[in-house]
Amino acid sequence: MGSLKLRNRFVMAPMTRNFSPGGIPSEGVAGYYRRRAEADVGLIITEGVGVDHPSAVGRETMGGGASPVLHGEETLARWREIVAGVHEAGGLIIPQLWHQGVIRVPGTGYHPDAPSARPSGVWGPIDKAMVPPEYLELVREPTAPLTDSEIGDIIAAFVRSAVNAKAVGFDGVALHGAHGYLIDSFLWRHTNMREDRWGGGAAERAGFAAALVRAIRSATGPDFPIIFRFSQWKLQDYDARNAETPGELEAMLAPLVAAGIDVFDASTRIFTTPAFEGADMGLAGWIRRLTGKPTIAVGGVGLSKDLQSSFAQPTVMTDNLSLVADRMAQGEFDLIAVGRALLMDPQWVSKMRHGGEVKPFRLDAYATLD
Ligand SMILES: Cc1cc2nc3c(=O)[nH]c(=O)nc-3n(C[C@H](O)[C@H](O)[C@H](O)COP(=O)(O)O)c2cc1C
Repeated sequence: MGSLKLRNRFVMAPMTRNFSPGGIPSEGVAGYYRRRAEADVGLIITEGVGVDHPSAVGRETMGGGASPVLHGEETLARWREIVAGVHEAGGLIIPQLWHQGVIRVPGTGYHPDAPSARPSGVWGPIDKAMVPPEYLELVREPTAPLTDSEIGDIIAAFVRSAVNAKAVGFDGVALHGAHGYLIDSFLWRHTNMREDRWGGGAAERAGFAAALVRAIRSATGPDFPIIFRFSQWKLQDYDARNAETPGELEAMLAPLVAAGIDVFDASTRIFTTPAFEGADMGLAGWIRRLTGKPTIAVGGVGLSKDLQSSFAQPTVMTDNLSLVADRMAQGEFDLIAVGRALLMDPQWVSKMRHGGEVKPFRLDAYATLD
């Protein structure tokens, strides 16, 4: 992957855990990641980490509010320990840089007074949201659209956090460009109606993401891997689409490739879902074909098919790795990310490899840091 060699193709998907009060990862976070590295995970992508900007993270969408950040002496010292622990165990670890953008609840987070960061001031259509009505009430009111200079400040904040990531030893950075958060809100036509250089057609709406990638690339050098997470679905609308056709997808991702992305992470809820009509191929397959870049697929690995479509509901563990292997062999994607199965069982990858009973799915696991 770029300049990195992974020991296998299993990636831990980014999962917000809320065990970092004040933005500083708590003691337990180091063990949590280290256990996965000790049990054969090839690459860990951390939970979303707030970038160094006051508007980056607010209260969590569905409760919580203790996401980590990547600045400040104490925080960086803690990350250094976490990274060292993963490396000692033979793993690799990359932080997911996160700015919640339109999804952040105004007046919350480590800097409650920070104004909202929204491309066009709007949260998006409010009739399809997959979030509780109480939450919707807090975000539905339009705010002032970002100014050009505020956009510049946010790009500089991403760069500072990426530079800090490199300084503490992380193996690259992953940009959270999915699920309706800031970067995705520039990509989506329903949250980006700008008529300046940050808005327009598919390629123009990718201008913010491309500017971010160029700035990070230039500050971190040619060999520091940059992963970009892209999704069609968002918290505003599970059926949303940034790109209606493969042609539109190609136009949107080309500026990112030109800016220096190494790997695309195609976030889907079920990795086998066809991305466009007329072909069986999932989103990761299309992105790989259209960009020529390595891709990560995700969604439903290790979980039973019929229940896997909701994150908030219980599901059942299963072994569907032959489906993953088949599609990988056909060249659909290069890496496979595993979220909930690895949250439930730190040893999931090693048990799939060597045998051993996988821990059952438990909703209460979300509240602990096993
Ligand atoms: C508790 C939890 C927290 C999550 N937090 C994030 C996050 O911070 N960033 C992100 O990009 N995706 C996040 N996701 C989505 C996962 O990365 C993954 O795409 C999703 O769970 C589907 O994979 P799975 O079926 O293997 O769980 C989260 C999912 C869960 C269950």
